[in-house]
Amino acid sequence: MEDKGRIESQILKLQEKYKDSGQDISSYLDGLLYQRYLTYWDYIHLDTLLSLQVPRTHFPDEEIFIMYHQITELYFKLILHEEKQIVDDKSQKESFFIEKLNRINNYYKALISSFSIMIRGMEREQFLQYRMALLPASGFQSAQYRMIELYATPLENLVHVSEEGKYTENDSIETLYEKIYWKKGATDLRTGEKTLTLKQFEYRYTPRFIRTAKQLEKNTIYHKYLDMPEKSRHNKALIDALKVMDINANINWPLMHLGSAHRYLNQDNTSIEATGGTNWKEYLPPSFQHVVFFPNLYSKDELSNWGKEWVDHHFNPEKSKN
Ligand code: HEM
Repeated sequence: MEDKGRIESQILKLQEKYKDSGQDISSYLDGLLYQRYLTYWDYIHLDTLLSLQVPRTHFPDEEIFIMYHQITELYFKLILHEEKQIVDDKSQKESFFIEKLNRINNYYKALISSFSIMIRGMEREQFLQYRMALLPASGFQSAQYRMIELYATPLENLVHVSEEGKYTENDSIETLYEKIYWKKGATDLRTGEKTLTLKQFEYRYTPRFIRTAKQLEKNTIYHKYLDMPEKSRHNKALIDALKVMDINANINWPLMHLGSAHRYLNQDNTSIEATGGTNWKEYLPPSFQHVVFFPNLYSKDELSNWGKEWVDHHFNPEKSKN
């Protein structure tokens, strides 16, 4: 009896809903009657997902390489999903900001701890061979990696340190974009010319990156923080969460990634060939890139030692204790 009353009231609510948009509820009820039950595999498009791992060689470890890149791109998408919510939020509530940053940091934690799948999880010999069939493609061409940066901070903070003093506050987004740090990477070690990897990436994504940077002008995560009332800006949990994100994105992940480049590419001449002969050894270390999303949160010393602590920790343990 109680059930009947509940169903009647639900039908009345549905009737209201469909009437408001000029729809006929009876047709929708028929649709419900004939519809198949939803299954797990349809809901998450499992068959499609599992059909996306298509190796280009017969080396079994290539599948690990493909899948781990795909997993990483999905995590990048999760990070962007949270970044977009911070940027779109009008409430300026500290708790909302912190919650989203903590999620982002959780995703980075998963990415950083799982990187051993790359560093230790493939045979080096296989890698050096199948990698040749993938040239000139490189994770360098990950657009989501760059989008995460554009959402986090204004272009001024992504300009390479060597360009400091060569631009003014009034320079256009296009001018700043040309000086962005990653244009120093994927460069031919011998000639200093841009590789095809970099040229293709610029050709495909420059319009999208410029458009995004313009949309986000004065509205990145860093701006959101700086625009908060003073009391909120001093919230320790918020400052800590921002710093953890900065260090995860610009030191911890890049160092794990660098570890895999060293493991696979850092030996004889074949190693150089396997990257297409790029300047990765100079370019990839965080202390070279010196990207800091939220520079106001650090002291001068912290900024000048950005990314160096790890090197001391591993190579000068005495120094890192001080
Ligand atoms: C064995 C594993 C890996 C090796 C040896 C490797 C190697 C490299 C190298 C040498 C570069 C520098 C660009 C170049 O010279 O072509 C690079 C850049 C990059 N790779 Fe990887 N990579 C590996 C795994 C991954 C994975 C799993 C991802 C995830 C998407 C990834 C994403 C990137 C990104 C985003 C960059 C640009 C980094 C920056 O600009 O600072 N890589 N990689």
